[in-house]
Amino acid sequence: MEKIIEENKQGQSLVLEQKEGNQRKLFIESYGCQMNFSDSEIVASILSENGFNTTQNLEDADLVLVNTCSIRDKAEQTVRKRLEKYNAVKKINPNMKVGVLGCMAERLKSKFLEEEKIVDLVVGPDAYKDLPNLVAEVDEGRNAVNVILSKEETYGDISPVRLNSNGVTAFVSITRGCDNMCTFCVVPFTRGRERSRDPQSIMEEINDLWSKGYKEVTLLGQNVDSYLWYGGGLKKDFEKASDMQKATAVNFANLLEMCATALPKMRFRFSTSNPQDMTLDVIEAMAKHNNICNYIHLPVQSGSNRILKEMNRQHTREEYFELIDNIKRLIPDCAISQDMISGFPAETEEDHQDTLSLMEYVKYDFGFMFAYSERPGTLAERKMEDDVPEETKKRRLEEIIVLQQKHALYRTEQHLGKVEEVLIEKESKRSDAHWSGRNSQNTVVVFPKENYKVGDFVNVKITECTSATLIGEAVGYSENN
Ligand code: SAH
Ligand code: F3S
Repeated sequence: MEKIIEENKQGQSLVLEQKEGNQRKLFIESYGCQMNFSDSEIVASILSENGFNTTQNLEDADLVLVNTCSIRDKAEQTVRKRLEKYNAVKKINPNMKVGVLGCMAERLKSKFLEEEKIVDLVVGPDAYKDLPNLVAEVDEGRNAVNVILSKEETYGDISPVRLNSNGVTAFVSITRGCDNMCTFCVVPFTRGRERSRDPQSIMEEINDLWSKGYKEVTLLGQNVDSYLWYGGGLKKDFEKASDMQKATAVNFANLLEMCATALPKMRFRFSTSNPQDMTLDVIEAMAKHNNICNYIHLPVQSGSNRILKEMNRQHTREEYFELIDNIKRLIPDCAISQDMISGFPAETEEDHQDTLSLMEYVKYDFGFMFAYSERPGTLAERKMEDDVPEETKKRRLEEIIVLQQKHALYRTEQHLGKVEEVLIEKESKRSDAHWSGRNSQNTVVVFPKENYKVGDFVNVKITECTSATLIGEAVGYSENN
């Protein structure tokens, strides 16, 4: 692999890995969750073994792949708009082929080919290893579709090509799929059953990243706390495993400990945690290891017990508070973030007030908030009426967002005057005289560059803040450097 430094549209320097001898150009872009971005790196790796190097230039591409998201209707509309853009480019470059990957591919299957004439190729999230064959079919003038979901595929044997990389932080996927069946969510249908990746292949990937100079890894999964390796197989079949397999099984807390111990100077994060699956031993592992960051993304969706039940969230408001109390007891400065949905079917004003009061209790550091969007095939779509008027959903969402901003500011203010370790990731968007990085709690910290460089761990004294950013001054390298 040869390394080429290129600038992306934001003017950031990117390291592109290019394999010598590859003649064709792949333009790949991703929408939706971090898992999609990580999957695109796997796809780029598979295709780099089959004649394709990536390009940042859509107009140059022989093959355009778009990794899609189905989580809300709006996400799908964004992808449809992008396809229009490809259509325009195809007029200039008629040989360009277009493929759709990810959740929309899985949801719509071959219907995509009928609905969008520009599309030549439809590939679901578990079928990426078939891409070389599918591309060959397309080369011969046929459309190609593979949307078969797998019980085993984890892509553990693929070493991802790092796309859009800053060379400092990387995502490593550890589980695929989800078995939780929240009634609003399309993910179990588009990404299939939950399965965990072999810990040895995870450790190999992380060691490789360390040797290439990476300083932070985020372990990824739809539901990381549910990670369970017992020699392969679905999570739901663990009960049938042998005594030996059970005795040597690796759960998420074990995996975190393995990572943190093997590379004590690498920072580790993880996402996403599901409250019903997060156990005390995970929080204890975080508390024990300095290099596991003090930040938990812990979506709750609603503060109303009645709605949580309708959503099939498997925990109550009180159990969630208990979890929050345990986190704060073991890790007092742990940052916590939420995902919240407003206007789930039959949500009343009282349910909405429960959401606001839950937020008051937790005072989240960050939040990702959405109006309910009915998704085809989900239990909510089949059994419940999407009966909260759009204006009400929007108004409740706005109230949630305003409250979240207040809490975010309350949280960033707690950092004022403190000296915190920051990993430098890139130049600040607002000023080329400043670096931008994140502290352990995942808050962005901006400070004058001085002689520090990208990838340094620096102690920064926090002097000012907004609700989203901390501003400070470096006081020296941290001991982790
Ligand atoms: N466990 C996953 C969740 C994926 S979905 C993870 O890795 O993050 C991300 C968020 O989208 C959910 O937490 C939820 O808040 C929101 N979401 C999912 N389905 C939705 C829907 N039908 N309407 C609105 N928001 C939805
Ligand atoms: Fe979706 Fe619930 Fe899984 S939100 S990804 S079904 S934990």
